[in-house]
Amino acid sequence: MTSIDLLLQRQSTPSLTTPAPSHLDLEKILAAGMRVPDHACLQPWHFTVITGSGLQRLSDLLVQSSDIQSDNLTKISKMPLRAPMIIVVNTEFVHHDKVPTQEQLITTGCGVHAMQMAAFALGYGAMWRTGKLAYNTKVKQGLAIKEHDEIVGFLYIGTPCKKLPIKPTRDYKNKVTYWK
Ligand SMILES: Cc1cc2nc3c(=O)[nH]c(=O)nc-3n(C[C@H](O)[C@H](O)[C@H](O)COP(=O)(O)O)c2cc1C
Repeated sequence: MTSIDLLLQRQSTPSLTTPAPSHLDLEKILAAGMRVPDHACLQPWHFTVITGSGLQRLSDLLVQSSDIQSDNLTKISKMPLRAPMIIVVNTEFVHHDKVPTQEQLITTGCGVHAMQMAAFALGYGAMWRTGKLAYNTKVKQGLAIKEHDEIVGFLYIGTPCKKLPIKPTRDYKNKVTYWK
């Protein structure tokens, strides 16, 4: 796959199975996540790689953090088991006079995107998810994320359950203006 094909064909893979990325491939995925545009090189992010029994730990954490009255606990308990690997990406905001937290959030999001692209390039599938539990204080605590930081994404990674057709190109015409 050429670089431009990667950029033009990237898409999400909701249904994932084993195998998860190998150790070598995971290293490449994480390295891609580190290589994002980053004002003042603050590296204001953290990656938590969850596999194996860690997925059950995450499931337990999500259930314990949920509202037992209104949430569908069975559905929530199964969420982390949708892929053999999840990378939780959160901010680690740094105080900087020229780099507001807004920019640090953006650069952290770039990391999720870069890791999805790397996974795709290596033949894996991946899907960026959040949902309301990404904004839950107890979930953040369980993942050792400080209260003022943000979970930017749960990046589910694995092998596509089936080969999906590449989605059609999106038309940019209504999204672009030109100054000449
Ligand atoms: C910050 C963020 C959070 C997202 N959270 C979810 C989510 O919780 N559930 C979901 O189905 N899709 C979520 N998505 C969208 C999917 O990752 C995906 O982009 C979307 O389904 C479109 O598919 P595509 O990536 O193949 O174009 C999220 C995307 C972003 C950028």
